[in-house]
Amino acid sequence: MLPSEYKVRDLVIRPATVLAPMAGVTDTLFRRVIRGLGGCGLLMTEFTSSEGITRSAKKTLRYLYFEEDEHPITAQLFGANPDVMAEAARIAEDLGYDAADINLGCPAKKVVKCGGSGLLRELPLLEKILKTVRAAIRIPLTIKLRAGWDDKSIVALDVVRMAEQTGIEAAAIHPRTRMQGYAGKADWTIIAAVKQAVKIPIIGNGDIQCPEDAERMVRETGCDAVMIGRAAATNPWIFHQMEQYRTTGRYEVPTENDRRRLLSGYYQKILSTNLPDGVGKMKQFACWFTHGVGNGSELRKIVHSARTPQEIVENVERFFAGKGADGGKPTDEPSHRERSPEEVRT
Ligand SMILES: Cc1cc2nc3c(=O)[nH]c(=O)nc-3n(C[C@H](O)[C@H](O)[C@H](O)COP(=O)(O)O)c2cc1C
Repeated sequence: MLPSEYKVRDLVIRPATVLAPMAGVTDTLFRRVIRGLGGCGLLMTEFTSSEGITRSAKKTLRYLYFEEDEHPITAQLFGANPDVMAEAARIAEDLGYDAADINLGCPAKKVVKCGGSGLLRELPLLEKILKTVRAAIRIPLTIKLRAGWDDKSIVALDVVRMAEQTGIEAAAIHPRTRMQGYAGKADWTIIAAVKQAVKIPIIGNGDIQCPEDAERMVRETGCDAVMIGRAAATNPWIFHQMEQYRTTGRYEVPTENDRRRLLSGYYQKILSTNLPDGVGKMKQFACWFTHGVGNGSELRKIVHSARTPQEIVENVERFFAGKGADGGKPTDEPSHRERSPEEVRT
């Protein structure tokens, strides 16, 4: 059974589901789409450079923009300088975040040199960062980590134990190694081993594609909450579906009309907020969101051939208007393996 809530100190997360941080995906617009559909207990920002924030780089601070309806929300930070990380966490606290999170998972080459999963190879430095940041803020502090650098150095258990002793209040585990990237399967037995060894809440992450997977993860690992990344980008209803499944044992599949409404609503928000890269965001969203729409490849083609946001909106409206009565049909569950966000990004 999926848990109904979990607590990070006095912060109650209800239901016990978390949107995974995804760079280039989980900006404020996307997060509010997820919140609006219901069922997601905690939102997280994309990972944000502590160096960028503390230098007050305008562009970096943009990543930390959020709206009131996003609470509870965690700011995820990365970096390897303890004092800079502490200062960045203080800024997040002042901005009104409910919690701060330290990224120990990013596999990107330019990030591992200065944080992310690179810190899994530098445990003394990591301990210093955790202690310094912990002492600097009052809001809950959490970590999100991979299993280790490679399969010869699985350190998740050591890291979470050390984090707990340092006052870290929850840990999300994506049990793949840095070297693994996204290949193979996430090894959920690592989540189970960590859960058994510590008292702080453990959030399980990796390869959940549907409510049944989430339930299986909780059953097999005993984790306190589940975190969903890629599946939420192609099926933002997944949190709502998990809540339906938790409470009734069944869940609904979105219809084409649901997808149309969501896509149009999201596009209207992009138009009204005048995003600098509005067209790029629209194209990115169309890539993920239209899997499961009949003749979706045609829809993606017309979105990609458009030049302005207005043109995209008109093309999408025309496409769906031409489909007429099909709109109420439940779509097939989107195929995440067909085209995942990281494939789209690279
Ligand atoms: C496009 C993309 C961007 C990501 N960005 C971040 C990030 O900023 N911070 C982070 O901790 N993990 C990041 N991740 C990893 C996810 O949070 C998550 O751990 C991973 O995708 C496994 O979960 P999933 O199988 O539910 O997708 C990213 C993943 C993807 C696909």
